Amino acid sequence: FISKEPGEKSATTYNLEEKQSSSLRKEFNGKLAFAVAAAALGSSFQHGYNTGVLNNPQFLIEQFIEQVIISRTGTPPSPATVTSIWSIITSIFCVGGMFGGAITGRYPSIIGEHKKSNKNKFSCIGFVGERFGRKGGLLLNNILVVFAVIFESTAKAANSYEMIIVGRFLIGINSGLNAGLAPMYLSEISPVNLRGAIGSVYQLVITISILVAQVLGLGSILGTAQHWPTLLALTVIPAAFQLATLPICPESPKYLLLSKNKEIEAQRALSWLRGSGSVQDEMDEMRQEYEAAKLMPTITTKELVSSAALRIPLIISLVMMLAQQFSGINAVIFYSTRIFTGAGLSTDAATYATLAIGAINVLMTIVSVILVERAGRKTLLLIGFGGMVIDTLLLTIALQFSETSTVAKYLCVCLVIMFIILFATGPGSIPWFLVSELFAQSARPAATSLAVSVNWFANFVVTIGFPTLQEQIGSYVFIIFTVILALVTAFTYKKVPETKNKTMEEISAMFRQQSYK
Ligand code: GLC
Repeated sequence: FISKEPGEKSATTYNLEEKQSSSLRKEFNGKLAFAVAAAALGSSFQHGYNTGVLNNPQFLIEQFIEQVIISRTGTPPSPATVTSIWSIITSIFCVGGMFGGAITGRYPSIIGEHKKSNKNKFSCIGFVGERFGRKGGLLLNNILVVFAVIFESTAKAANSYEMIIVGRFLIGINSGLNAGLAPMYLSEISPVNLRGAIGSVYQLVITISILVAQVLGLGSILGTAQHWPTLLALTVIPAAFQLATLPICPESPKYLLLSKNKEIEAQRALSWLRGSGSVQDEMDEMRQEYEAAKLMPTITTKELVSSAALRIPLIISLVMMLAQQFSGINAVIFYSTRIFTGAGLSTDAATYATLAIGAINVLMTIVSVILVERAGRKTLLLIGFGGMVIDTLLLTIALQFSETSTVAKYLCVCLVIMFIILFATGPGSIPWFLVSELFAQSARPAATSLAVSVNWFANFVVTIGFPTLQEQIGSYVFIIFTVILALVTAFTYKKVPETKNKTMEEISAMFRQQSYK
């Protein structure tokens, strides 16, 4: 008997994965597409829409904050006060996200679930996701959207910017939970040959919904002093869509079988999703997966950090999540209008440049979904991060001349657009699924949960820190991203393995060898 590191796969599991490629391949069908749409449109839409929605109406909401303070104190607030309140409104979304991410996947070492019987081996996958199911958790999560919308849409009438803050916090928790639950549901309902493509739908819908938020926020649509509360309230539509469609779809078959041991329900769910009754192969595979996993200890966070074989993939996962955010992507997404007006563009031109950014992000994410199985993860990450080092450096230089030179002004716009192209090439979508590729089933939940929370934390740091830093060091702010991106590029080159076309066994073996060096 060969002793295993916790979280590593058994030989049975490896053999299963090899077998999967032939008999478990399934076609995409209408019902599966319906379930993907019900889960992704209703959940990642909240994540993306609320990331982009404040960009265009920033000036209007800042005016509103000013008016509220004048009406309360009789004196206008200082610009610094307005900036701080604005920063809270944007960044509290990420604090909610961190919290939501953490309650999706709570850690077994904290709740002691690993001490229980084999039946509960999978309980560590999540608190909300495990207690209510993936579908159940997603459906319940919509309650938060309703409360968030009530606060955000009535804030103006109630003369309270604090209500926007509460609403943003609630929609943040909702988005953090979605970031854990939706990818879990999507990957668990996918046949093995479509898992990557379906998993990537999460990032694709984020980019689409950021664009929708930016278009609807235009002055000619809802970005007006009168209508911005409606703009914020529209986030209830994807919730209504999900509440109308997801109940028709089944719960995740893996959840039903592996967590609840409900074999008949799992088979029924799988037949629905495959549009066919012949699901014996997949059922057998799930049963064997369950048996194989029962032989392995569930990974606790402590074991995750202290195991030499798991420490390397954990560090890689966390660095990729940190890098995705510390690339400065959300400084550009949240503050692009301000960056462009700061570079000397008119408000109208800045608004349209912001739209171009959103559209390019969508198009390039589609391209990267196609490229990722051909060029490989590592290559795309290196092109993305490495390109962004040069891009942010040139942007810093161009910004110095943007007020006096028209050429420099337009160069700034081009460089910001290039920044988005490079981000969407790899750093946008790869970190989300790389974590799953680097870990086997028993360590994946704890690792994913930690990684998702770290992502939202870094998102928070950038969102809250960027405007203040920009005020203090002006356009030199991008140099910070240049330095971080250069370090990340070197790390990616040296440490990130190419996982394209590699089996889980090969990936685990690679880390095992490294840990013994
Ligand atoms: C990734 C990031 C998210 C960002 C988005 C932009 O999903 O996690 O914070 O807003 O990309 O496309």
